Amino acid sequence: MSEKSQFEDRLLSLGLARVSEAAALASARLIGRGDEKAADQAAVNAMRDQLNLLDIKGVVVIGEGERDEAPMLYIGEEVGTGNGPAVDIALDPLEGTTLTAKDMPNALTVIAMAPRGSLLHAPDVYMDKLAIGPGHKPGTVTLSMSPSERVSALAAAKGCSTEDITVCVLERPRHEDLIRELRSTGAAIRLITDGDVAGVMHCAEPEITGIDMYMGSGGAPEGVLAAAALKCMGGQFFGKLLFRNDDERARARKAGITNLDRVYTRDDLVRADVIFAATGVTSGSLLAGIKREPGWVTLETILMRSKTGTVRRMTYRSPVR
Ligand code: FBP
Repeated sequence: MSEKSQFEDRLLSLGLARVSEAAALASARLIGRGDEKAADQAAVNAMRDQLNLLDIKGVVVIGEGERDEAPMLYIGEEVGTGNGPAVDIALDPLEGTTLTAKDMPNALTVIAMAPRGSLLHAPDVYMDKLAIGPGHKPGTVTLSMSPSERVSALAAAKGCSTEDITVCVLERPRHEDLIRELRSTGAAIRLITDGDVAGVMHCAEPEITGIDMYMGSGGAPEGVLAAAALKCMGGQFFGKLLFRNDDERARARKAGITNLDRVYTRDDLVRADVIFAATGVTSGSLLAGIKREPGWVTLETILMRSKTGTVRRMTYRSPVR
């Protein structure tokens, strides 16, 4: 890469941070107002407007849904000015709509950008997910291990007891057996009500978040976004698509997936260097939430590039207009 294109890449990453900031700013007034749809719509509109100012030839590959069900930021929508690099865009303008509506922790706006053709076009189905942080040998934990085997394997790798391991899991009836088995190992479980992109990201900084491993099923599109984050922060991620019926299998085939039983690693989901930005909407252990004071609003954004391994945390303060 020439010096000039490296510089343009860096500038583009700052542009991406502005996109996630814009979505967060737009949802600020809707935090804790009990209206998930309005909060999501505000974030979608703002993210799209800001994204279309970027000098990219972008295509949304993870977005708000299929073309016939999402009027904006649908899968396949072309975004950007059309001048600049051809890129795939994965986004979730508001990851944690319920968290936002109820003013609960860890709602984020999320966007990732990578060269065209390098992000998995994940259908809107569930994905079985497993993540751990950086510094472990390949194969330390796998999706083919049982949940208790994963806890023992990670404890052995860390040189600690299974009781020192904390696993993050989405609190859902479908996870009752998983939770029971994890508890039988003595491991602690951090239950979250929503927001598994943040859940997975927490594994990358166990000393700050206290979370060593993520397990359980959640949205496949969120799986690609989480893999993009871990590619920048370091850490291992595994995902397998889960299908409840033939309609979901058809969605996967339509997205170009032929092997429906494949276990994807982090680098299968994100096949080239990626830029990732997320802005805190409600406060969490990863990012501060939007702070509103009379006349001012303050946001925190994390901006990361896998190519350089850089992680930038930025605080943005603006007069309320
Ligand atoms: P939304 O922001 O679209 O509400 O998604 C939140 C979320 O918790 C994701 O983080 C997660 O992957 C998914 O929903 C889990 O789906 P479900 O609520 O069906 O278990």
